[in-house]
Amino acid sequence: MGKRIADTALDTLFRDARTYAKWQPRPVDDQTLRDLYELLKWAPTSANAAPARFAFLRSKEAKERLRPALAPLNVEKTMTAPVTVIVGYDMRFYEQLPKLFAHSPGMKQLFERNPELAETTARRNSSLQGAYLIIAARALGLDCGPMSGFDQAKVDEEFFAAGKPCFGCDQEFFPEGHVKSNFLCNLGYGDGSTLHSRLPRLPFNEACSLL
Ligand SMILES: Cc1cc2nc3c(=O)[nH]c(=O)nc-3n(C[C@H](O)[C@H](O)[C@H](O)COP(=O)(O)O)c2cc1C
Repeated sequence: MGKRIADTALDTLFRDARTYAKWQPRPVDDQTLRDLYELLKWAPTSANAAPARFAFLRSKEAKERLRPALAPLNVEKTMTAPVTVIVGYDMRFYEQLPKLFAHSPGMKQLFERNPELAETTARRNSSLQGAYLIIAARALGLDCGPMSGFDQAKVDEEFFAAGKPCFGCDQEFFPEGHVKSNFLCNLGYGDGSTLHSRLPRLPFNEACSLL
């Protein structure tokens, strides 16, 4: 605590980390996906609610189910990626609060009675958890290709709809269509040979204020 991590680690996580569209023919094993979750699960979330749900699509069959929902420019990079994760959020995340936030029993009812607050909380925190997924993946030596170019309704219908099993998940885990997709993220070992040069970022004084 209070100790800055090594510059080489900062390079890996931030300065040298790029968004990839081409992939080396190197698989990502299930243990690596489990390791990834074991890191990202420590992301802070409102009321420790952890509303994000992650569907890791690894097989050709699973990718084919995703294909019709992809924006044309995202098809090839996704179909060739070793793994595509659907970062979703559970609209009924508050049902887990008695376990995840046990010291404050009123929290579950607070969200249950206020669907707008529940939706805002689920979206905000699942986005944060998705960002942690990207950082955790980079820490494990993986590369990422996040995407919002897809048809959310189609993904929700195909993977999270009522009565349909979620690929790779227990039916109990995603019952009855209350999980919604937030964004997709391709995972694998990137092929850097086709990367364009890094796009600029806003400098401190254009993005930040010191008050
Ligand atoms: C939420 C999100 C959605 C994105 N959607 C797409 C997308 O649909 N298609 C795509 O090719 N890139 C997408 N990107 C990638 C960005 O364009 C890319 O991260 C950005 O240009 C920075 O590139 P760099 O990480 O190589 O510096 C997305 C990135 C994020 C975080």
